[in-house]
Amino acid sequence: MPIKPDRITELTEKIGNAKILILGDIMLDEYLFGQVTRISPEAPVPVVEVTSDRFLLGGAANVAANIRKLGDEPLLLGVVGLDEASVKFSQILKSKKISSEFLINDESRQTTIKTRVMAGNQQIVRYDRENRHELNAETEQKVFKKFESVVDDISAVIISDYGKGVISLSLLEKVIALCREKSIFVAVDPKETHFHNYKNVSVITPNHHEAGFAYGQRISNEKELLEVGNGLLEKLQAKSILITRGADGMSLFRTDKEPTHIPTFAKKVFDVTGAGDTVIATFVSSVCAGAELHEAAIIANAGAGITVGEVGTASVTPELLRKELHLNIKDGNLVKN
Ligand SMILES: Nc1ncnc2c1ncn2[C@@H]1O[C@H](COP(=O)(O)OP(=O)(O)OP(=O)(O)O)[C@@H](O)[C@H]1O
Ligand SMILES: [Mg+2]
Repeated sequence: MPIKPDRITELTEKIGNAKILILGDIMLDEYLFGQVTRISPEAPVPVVEVTSDRFLLGGAANVAANIRKLGDEPLLLGVVGLDEASVKFSQILKSKKISSEFLINDESRQTTIKTRVMAGNQQIVRYDRENRHELNAETEQKVFKKFESVVDDISAVIISDYGKGVISLSLLEKVIALCREKSIFVAVDPKETHFHNYKNVSVITPNHHEAGFAYGQRISNEKELLEVGNGLLEKLQAKSILITRGADGMSLFRTDKEPTHIPTFAKKVFDVTGAGDTVIATFVSSVCAGAELHEAAIIANAGAGITVGEVGTASVTPELLRKELHLNIKDGNLVKN
């Protein structure tokens, strides 16, 4: 599916003027860096002498950070606890110019925090503090009320479901129904076990493992990819399904259209974490800028390509997208270097 250089310029120049609501599971990623110089006298484990730490936004918050970097305004709607991690989280949001206005504190829950202890580049252990049960009725009601209060101001909704309890079937039904009524674009980054809940949305962005699991058919060749993509489209009555395929790029399935397959550009890969968050953020941002779905997929693929070539998160700007796309498109078609 060709895309002309002028169109790339036009679309990437338009990115950055939308308000996009991100609803989902918020996480904080903590890294403790240090060195191992001895084995503990208490147990046969290394002792890490910690010299520095770093916090990064994870889950729905990383999607919001991506949206901010693209120049759009992210409204991050989710639930944190009332604990040390929630305070840290708000500080980081502030430093990234993301509003805490739509965060709900629920005292009965723990803010999700994943801590990695690193000795040099080697991860020694990861420990998670989180609750995974569904929100109680009162908190869920608060989430929906907040959603209702801004629904008329937003161009699109991204649902970032990491299965930590915010995205319940009842909340989804209400949110999707309201978005349909108001013709708001809804994108879902799915949790594979919740697939049957995402009915009637604009796009779902599973990776190939999640898509295969959800459809009950492993994807190991093109025939199976088509079967799963078209099958999910029909089963969920979605407008589109974007299956991401790691180093093989992505495939877009739309109703009444042939699937579009988009290869990745040949490049060095440093860090694939967060690529899925960049895909959904860039895709939705592009749609808000007026892109057709296949154009949004091409731009999202370029965004993911930039992310995997860098260490860390949320680095994709419209200018970088424009550069990356112009470099990799010849005669309107993507070329592999
Ligand atoms: N090894 C790679 N080489 C080039 N591009 C890659 C590679 N891995 C991922 N990508 C890019 O990132 C996109 C998303 O990656 P992937 O399919 O792994 O999603 P994901 O599993 O949802 O990611 P995440 O771990 O962030 O949830 C791919 O469609 C591709 O554009
Ligand atoms: Mg993913």
